[in-house]
Amino acid sequence: MAELPYTIAIDGPAASGKGTLARRIAAHYGLRHLDTGLTYRAVARELLQAGLPLDDERSAIAAAERFAIGDMRRDVLADHTIGEAASKIAVMPGVRKVLVDRQRRFAGEGSGAVLDGRDIGTVVCPDALVKLYVTASPEIRATRRYHEILSNGGSADEEVILADIRKRDDRDMNRDDSPLKPATDAHLLDTSEMTIEAAFQGARERIDAALKQN
Ligand code: CDP
Repeated sequence: MAELPYTIAIDGPAASGKGTLARRIAAHYGLRHLDTGLTYRAVARELLQAGLPLDDERSAIAAAERFAIGDMRRDVLADHTIGEAASKIAVMPGVRKVLVDRQRRFAGEGSGAVLDGRDIGTVVCPDALVKLYVTASPEIRATRRYHEILSNGGSADEEVILADIRKRDDRDMNRDDSPLKPATDAHLLDTSEMTIEAAFQGARERIDAALKQN
C-alpha cells in the first residue's frame, strides 16, 4: 500500500477530459478532489466583479489569499469570460505562489487527493504517486466544449471555441512561470479517440500498479 497521503496528479489543456477523469478517479479511490482551475477562476471572478484590470497583481494576490476553497462552485465560475480571465491572471508569479501553497496544503490533508490542472505533476505535487497528462486534438476539444455548452442550455459557435482553445493553449504552454507541459515521468493519455470509460480504465491500471509497488 502507498504511503499516506498520496496524490494523483492530472494535467492537460482545456476540455481534454481531465476534470471528468479526475472526478471518476477520486470517487473510485475514495480521495478528495481539487480542480485547481477553479482557484484561478475564483481570483479572476473577483477582479472582474470589482472592475479591476487583470494585471493588477497586488489585488489578485489579495483575492488569492482570501477566497474559501470549499465554497468554489464550477457552475458559478464556468463562464467563458472567467476562463479567459483566469488564464491571464495565471501568468503572474505572485498569484501562482499563493494558489500553489494552498493547493499543496489541500493535497497534504487526510489520506490524499486527486488534483487536476496545468502544473500539478511539474510544480504543485512533483512527488505525486501517479502523474497523468491528458490530451486530445484541439478540434476534438472544441467539439466537446461546444456540446457541453449546448447541453447546459447555452449557444456557441464551434469555430470561435476552436480559436479560443488555440489561444488559451498558446498562453498556457508558453508562459514563463509553470507552463503547461507533461512532467518527465507522466503517463500520456490521448483521449481523442477514447471514451471516458476507456480513459478511466487506462488510468486505473497505472494507479493500481503504483499502489501495489509502493
Ligand atoms: O476548464 P478549463 O480547462 O477551460 O480551464 P480551467 O482548468 O478551469 O483553468 C482555467 C485557466 O487557469 C487555465 O487556462 C490556466 O491558465 C489556469 N490554470 C493554471 O495556470 N494552473 C492550473 N493548475 C490550473 C489552471
